[in-house]
Amino acid sequence: MQPTEQNREQWGSKLGFILAAAGSAVGLGNIWAFPYVVGSNGGAAFIVVYLLCVAIIGLPVLLAEILLGRTAQRNPVGTFKALSNSKGWHVVGGMGVVAGFVILSFYAVVAGWALGYIFEAIRGVFFDFQTPQDAINHFNSLTGDPVWILGMLLFFMILTMVIVVSGVQKGIEKGSKIMMPLLFILLIGVMIRGVTLEGSSAGLSFLFNPDWSKISGTTVLVALGQAFFTLSLGMGAMMTYGSYMSKKDNVVTSTFQIVTIDTSIALIAGTAIFTAVFAIGLNPSEGVGLIFHTLPIVFSKMTGGYIIAVVFFTLLFIAALTSAISLMEVVTAYFVDEKKWKRKKAVYLLGSLAILAGVPSALSFNWLSEFLIFGMNFFDLMFYITFNIMLPLGGFLIAIFVAWVWGLDKAVVELKKGAEAIFENTPWQISLWKIFLKYFSSVLIFLVLLNSLGLLDPLINLFF
Ligand code: TRP
Repeated sequence: MQPTEQNREQWGSKLGFILAAAGSAVGLGNIWAFPYVVGSNGGAAFIVVYLLCVAIIGLPVLLAEILLGRTAQRNPVGTFKALSNSKGWHVVGGMGVVAGFVILSFYAVVAGWALGYIFEAIRGVFFDFQTPQDAINHFNSLTGDPVWILGMLLFFMILTMVIVVSGVQKGIEKGSKIMMPLLFILLIGVMIRGVTLEGSSAGLSFLFNPDWSKISGTTVLVALGQAFFTLSLGMGAMMTYGSYMSKKDNVVTSTFQIVTIDTSIALIAGTAIFTAVFAIGLNPSEGVGLIFHTLPIVFSKMTGGYIIAVVFFTLLFIAALTSAISLMEVVTAYFVDEKKWKRKKAVYLLGSLAILAGVPSALSFNWLSEFLIFGMNFFDLMFYITFNIMLPLGGFLIAIFVAWVWGLDKAVVELKKGAEAIFENTPWQISLWKIFLKYFSSVLIFLVLLNSLGLLDPLINLFF
C-alpha cells in the first residue's frame, strides 16, 4: 500500500528516534575529524569555543530542522512545499536530496575501508608491521586495488540498503537501537584500554590542556564548521528523521539529547585514540593518517591490541553505517513521498545508482588518481562541493526560512506541541532559540560558507 498522509510510518518510540538521529550525527566526523581538530587547535580551549558554536548554530538549526520535518510530516522537498507559499523554496529541499545522494556515494567509500579493516584486524595483519611506513604501504596497497575498494563499497552499500529497505521502524529504528548502544560500549572499552596504558596522560594533556593562544578567527571558523557538520545539518537528514516523529513528542528535549550524545561520543573517541597514540610514543596525525596509518601500529604494540583493533574498526564501521542510512533515507523519502514509489524500488534503484556514482570516488585512490578537476581528484571534489558548499548553503537557507519566511510565530505554535512543560517552566529556552536563530545562526553559517568559497579573507581585507 502507498503511504498517505494518514498511514505514513512513524518511530515506534522516543528512544528510537533519539538513537537514529544520534546515529546520523555520530559518524566518521566524530571519530576521524573531531579528536584531531581538538588536539591541534588548543585542546580544552577549543572545546569551549566548540560548545559555544554548538549552542549558537548547532542546537538552534538542529531544532529548526527537526521541527520543520515534524510539522510537515514530509521529506525535505515536500516540507518546503507544504510550509511556504512561494514556489522557490522547495529547491532548498531538492538541493538536500541531491547532497544526500552525492554524500552517500563517497561516504560509503571511506566507510568501506572501515569495514575492510575489520577483516584486516581479524587476520592480525597489523602485527606484521615494523615501522609506520609498513602501515602506510599496507593501506596504499589496499586502496590502490580497485577490486578491494570497489568490493568494500559494494558490501557497505548492500548493508545500508538492507536496513533502509526494511522501513523506518523495522529497519532504521531497530538497527539504531542495536548499533548505537553497541557502539557506545565498544568505544568505552577502547577508552578504558587507552587510559590504563602507561604514559596515557600525554594524550590527555594533548586533548584537554587549554591553550588559549591557539584560539583565533580561524579556529572559530573550524569550530563552527565542525559543529555544523557533526550534527548532519543543512541537507534535511534531521528534517526527514523529524518527519517520522509524532506531534506528542518533545522536539526541544530530543534536540538536547542528540547533541549530548554526539558531543560525548566525540570526546570519548578523542580520549580513546590519543591516550593510546601517545602511550605508544607515536605522533598524532590527522584523518586517513591517524586512523589507517597510525592506529594499526598502536594496536599492534599494546597488550590486548588484537581485540582492541577489531573492536575499534567495528565501532568505526557502525558509526559510518548509521550515518549512511540517514543519507539513504533522505533520498528514499523523497521518492516515496513525492513520486509515490514503493520503498523497495526507491532503495534498490537509488542505492544502485549511488554505488555507480561512488565508483569514480573509489577509483580516485588508484586508476583515477591523476585525473584532477580544479586541482582535486573526483573524491575530493565531491567532498568539497557537498560538505563545504551545499551543506552550509542549505543550513543558511533553512535558518532564514524558519526565522524569516515561515516565521517564528508559526514555528513556536508547532514547537509547543509535546513541549508544553518547557514553555511553562523554562520559557527562556524558547526565547533564546528565537534570538539565536533569528540573529546569529544564519549569519555565522554564512561566514562558514564564505570561508569555504575563499571569499572571507578578501572581504575582511577590503573592509578592515
Ligand atoms: N555527521 C556525520 C559525521 O559526523 C557527517 C554528516 C554530515 C552526515 N552531514 C550528514 C551524515 C548528513 C549523514 C547525513 O560523520
